[in-house]
Amino acid sequence: MRVAEAKFYQDYLDMAAHGEKMGWHERNGGNFTYWLKPEDVEMVKDDLQVGRQWNSIGIMVRQLAGQYFLISGTGKYFYNINRDPEDCLGIIELDDKGENYRIVWGFSGGGRPTSEMPTHLMNMEVRARATGDKNRVIYHAHCTNLIAMTFLLPLKDEVFTRELWEMMTECPVVFPEGVGIVEWMVPGGREIAVATAQKAEKYNAVIWAHHGLFCSGEDFDSTFGLMHAIEKSAEIWIKVHSVSSQMRQTISVDGFRQLAREFNVQLNEQALYEKE
Ligand code: 13P
Ligand code: ZN
Repeated sequence: MRVAEAKFYQDYLDMAAHGEKMGWHERNGGNFTYWLKPEDVEMVKDDLQVGRQWNSIGIMVRQLAGQYFLISGTGKYFYNINRDPEDCLGIIELDDKGENYRIVWGFSGGGRPTSEMPTHLMNMEVRARATGDKNRVIYHAHCTNLIAMTFLLPLKDEVFTRELWEMMTECPVVFPEGVGIVEWMVPGGREIAVATAQKAEKYNAVIWAHHGLFCSGEDFDSTFGLMHAIEKSAEIWIKVHSVSSQMRQTISVDGFRQLAREFNVQLNEQALYEKE
């Protein structure tokens, strides 16, 4: 089967279009990786070309050795992904050490994988360990309201978790483990990949202060849904705090505990602190 006919590829294109429609991808902002399942690779293997040279990933992801990923290109605009996917996207194969990659499909105009590939692959490895290889998607977007919040609140996991939970009742059910946050760093390299991967041990969502959000998940819907829920909650936070610095009422710690019981989720206790 051609890559263009595969369901994982069509689902990837749909999600990229959805993110673009949300306004999260100005210019080349954001990037996106799907880890192909063995049956995906089997399905499209006749359409993959071997023979292009190996390149260094810049980090080592031994557990992902020999695996294949559909990944967005550096400098490519999400707006163009659906208009010219073979130029904007590529499938890469990792070598048997998890240190090098080669392009086996796509990047037809000579492109390369996103500059955030180290973070994508390190997060993928950490989330794979945490989920028994079930995690398949890593998605990075520049969500306006969440970025705005990182100028106003202390950059602490428990503070962002609590504020986001309070803004929308469903949030603690969608991300009961909370969100992690990485202080401002230069993007695109090993250092930010390591800092993000540390947070990814615990969280499916990691915020980059003054930059954006990384979400992970087992499929396209749950990953996109997580990004959407967090950004919507952030939008409510910004709206409320634009009107007044004081809230008249909110969800109580007791309320969160009740919710956890009813929905059978384990909430991150660190976020259930008493507020002054
Ligand atoms: P790329 O164009 O390399 O994917 O970078 C965009 C981005 O969002 C960097 O964080
Ligand atoms: Zn970015």
